[in-house]
Amino acid sequence: MIDIDGITKRYGKATVVDRVNLQIPRGGVVSLIGANGAGKSTLLSMVGRLLEPCDGRITVDGHDVQATPGPELARRLSVLRQENHLPVRLAVGELVAFGRFPHSGGRLSTRDHDHIDRAIAHLDLGPMAHRRLDQLSGGQRQRAFIAMVLAQDTDYVLLDEPLNTLDMRHAAQTMDTIRRMADDLDKTVVVVLHDVNVAAHHSDRIVAMKHGRVVADGSPSEVVDRDVLRHVFDLDVPVSHTDAGPVAMHFGRACTSGDAPLASRTGEFR
Ligand SMILES: Nc1ncnc2c1ncn2[C@@H]1O[C@H](COP(=O)(O)OP(=O)(O)OP(=O)(O)O)[C@@H](O)[C@H]1O
Ligand SMILES: [Mg+2]
Repeated sequence: MIDIDGITKRYGKATVVDRVNLQIPRGGVVSLIGANGAGKSTLLSMVGRLLEPCDGRITVDGHDVQATPGPELARRLSVLRQENHLPVRLAVGELVAFGRFPHSGGRLSTRDHDHIDRAIAHLDLGPMAHRRLDQLSGGQRQRAFIAMVLAQDTDYVLLDEPLNTLDMRHAAQTMDTIRRMADDLDKTVVVVLHDVNVAAHHSDRIVAMKHGRVVADGSPSEVVDRDVLRHVFDLDVPVSHTDAGPVAMHFGRACTSGDAPLASRTGEFR
């Protein structure tokens, strides 16, 4: 279980993650949604120890994230960041092999190679495994980073906007891969998504953040709900209930009667 207990992050006077409590038990797909600037990436970065909290504590299967040595944490939990800044001169296969580093320490075994090959095949990267990252399109590069995380083969997987830049087919394929990671490989996936319909279709649970706080947490049909979405996004979003679950018609007009004045909706938090 990932246990987030009273986590806070401040930059100067701005509190961007505000006393968040969240328990994520083993198994399943949890989507994290919320407006730009809501604090999703900051929260995920603290869970992955890429960022230090100001207050609170996070444990993963009882291990305090701040106190766990990096390689040990990296065998339990992997993180795909929203933006990746790795040397672009690397080849795809070399990048994916990085995912095995916490296990191999740099000397790749047959098992490591199996993981690398499988991850490359899963993300449709076979034909470009020898190409350098700077010779790929944005979406192909994004898939290479997802493959690296897949190769890391951790119990917990945190993905920050993995669908960013992916075309429709590769987005669907990536969500299927995420679902299979949970269903077939018993992994726990926490994924930041902007499309609430994708979140509704593929998640067991959706957590919504606003202004650094968790403001909704429940099943897809509980969270993809007109009143909840109005509160989360300050937007009136009609929701249709179909056999495939709730579908938000998110090209609705901006909410004019929400609980926040327009100025604070469009401005940065605090
Ligand atoms: N290094 C920093 N210094 C100051 N403020 C920061 C810093 N990093 C992030 N912030 C602020 O923290 C808030 C939360 O940012 P965060 O990246 O977590 O949002 P997000 O929910 O991931 O948004 P998006 O959907 O745009 O990715 C934003 O208002 C952002 O401007
Ligand atoms: Mg973000």
